[in-house]
Amino acid sequence: MKVNKANLSTKDLLSLQDINARQITLVLKLARVLKKKTKCPRSRELLRGKIVGMIFQKPSTRTRVSFEAGIYQMGGNAVSLNYNDIQLSRGESIEDTARTLSLYLDCIMARVYDHTDVQKLANFANIPVINGLSDSFHPCQALADLLTISEYKGQLKGLNLAWIGDGNNVCNDLLLGCAKTGINMTVACPKNYRPRDELIQLAKYEAELTSAKVMVVEDPIIAAKDADVIVTDTFLSIGKENESDVREPIFLFKYQVNRELMKLTKRDAIFMHCLPVNRGKEVTSEVIDGNSSVVWSEAENRMHVQKAILLLLMKPNISL
Ligand code: CP
Ligand code: NVA
Repeated sequence: MKVNKANLSTKDLLSLQDINARQITLVLKLARVLKKKTKCPRSRELLRGKIVGMIFQKPSTRTRVSFEAGIYQMGGNAVSLNYNDIQLSRGESIEDTARTLSLYLDCIMARVYDHTDVQKLANFANIPVINGLSDSFHPCQALADLLTISEYKGQLKGLNLAWIGDGNNVCNDLLLGCAKTGINMTVACPKNYRPRDELIQLAKYEAELTSAKVMVVEDPIIAAKDADVIVTDTFLSIGKENESDVREPIFLFKYQVNRELMKLTKRDAIFMHCLPVNRGKEVTSEVIDGNSSVVWSEAENRMHVQKAILLLLMKPNISL
């Protein structure tokens, strides 16, 4: 498929709030082209001379390596900036850090705790800023998930997706992504672990435009019934480790994706998880290592969608 004069029309990508259905389709389309052309010599020219800085306040395997590998594959350079190695950790302001990095780099990818930190970076940087996960959102993951679903299901609109477990950062952007692309999403989570009401309302508003449904329930059985896609994530996101005594009994009791829950889904349902996984907690080994699991394609697709995002933000009007 050919992508002509593509333009994302946004400076930054901090959450799927920043892009509409057309822009999501564009990212997925370009990601598919780039995935096919991973080894094509012309791909190695796409980011020639461009430098991307990657700030990590939290640990990461997939985000770090898939960004870095994707940037190198397109001929660009990646500078990894561990939080403790830069002056930000000694109190230099985000504003001054953003202004300084804008003098040297062409793009910043940042993984932070507080979402307002990545918003501040974006406001004060005059180069694109990509959220590589904050406590509130994980847009690159949601886009990789949509790409993966489209590959396995051949469509997005009209599918039923069940989110089982914590209404967390990954869930938030997936809610917006599903609503904007016409996927019916049901979140099954304990009462006190729902996505924020404001976010649910926003997803419902977006879903009206695509005739999709957004539901938040407590019972995972309701969500799993007739699902085409079943998704979960850790009960203990980064920074929540000290809540394990409270969270584990609540989640483990009812919100584990296991063979019984998978039996309620459609026969050809796929299982997804952004990783890292705690086998035996949010999902059994049998499910994540079983035939319905597409977690490795999902992880691979992180790189392809991120390459598309980088290109669209750094090289507006690119034609491939
Ligand atoms: N899924 C994901 O973002 O993984 P990392 O935390 O390893 O980057
Ligand atoms: N919800 C998880 C996702 C990790 C990729 C976390 O924030 O730790």
